[in-house]
Amino acid sequence: MALSLKNKLVLFSFLSVTFLLVNCSERQAETSDKKRTTEECKKDTASLNPNGDSELALLMRNMLHSTESLKEMIKKGNVPDKFPEEFLKIHTANPTDSDTKKASFEAFADNYLTSLKNLHNSQKNNVQENYNSVINACASCHQEHCPGPLRVINKLKIN
Ligand code: HEC
Repeated sequence: MALSLKNKLVLFSFLSVTFLLVNCSERQAETSDKKRTTEECKKDTASLNPNGDSELALLMRNMLHSTESLKEMIKKGNVPDKFPEEFLKIHTANPTDSDTKKASFEAFADNYLTSLKNLHNSQKNNVQENYNSVINACASCHQEHCPGPLRVINKLKIN
């Protein structure tokens, strides 16, 4: 059965509208997903999670406080000595949302731990530079996995 020109036009507009609607709602789902992850990661030190904080979130908070003390120590011209073994748990600690740890997480975590080890093997002349590399390692993982705390992280740098 051949379609008349009019029917073809009706069919065509129907298909275009359907396509637009589907495409649009898909995109909306995508943005709200993205927004959700960013928002979850937005809270920095305040506990807002009604289900309690994840192991990874608690570890991160310890990392933040420990880094703040390191900053004070290094600004006074001291070199840190004892490597914080508990931060090795970054690989196994469970995140709030199981999707948070994307494939690149482990590489970013290793990069952070390596810079932290370097910092603990520093001399007075390179301690500040090695400290800032640790902060860059925090920031590069956060850019990809959890941009919320970046503002707090960038403040940790020693200029
Ligand atoms: C390998 C990736 C990675 C590295 C490196 C990393 N973070 Fe995180 N950080 C995360 C992820 C993922 C979360 C979200 C954890 C969750 O919600 O379970 C997070 C959460 C946080 C939070 C929010 C914790 C809360 O209260 O919910 C702070 C603050 C934070 N990180 C600071 C830091 C600092 C400071 C460093 C470096 C000393 C650092 N992070 C290094 C991935 C990383």
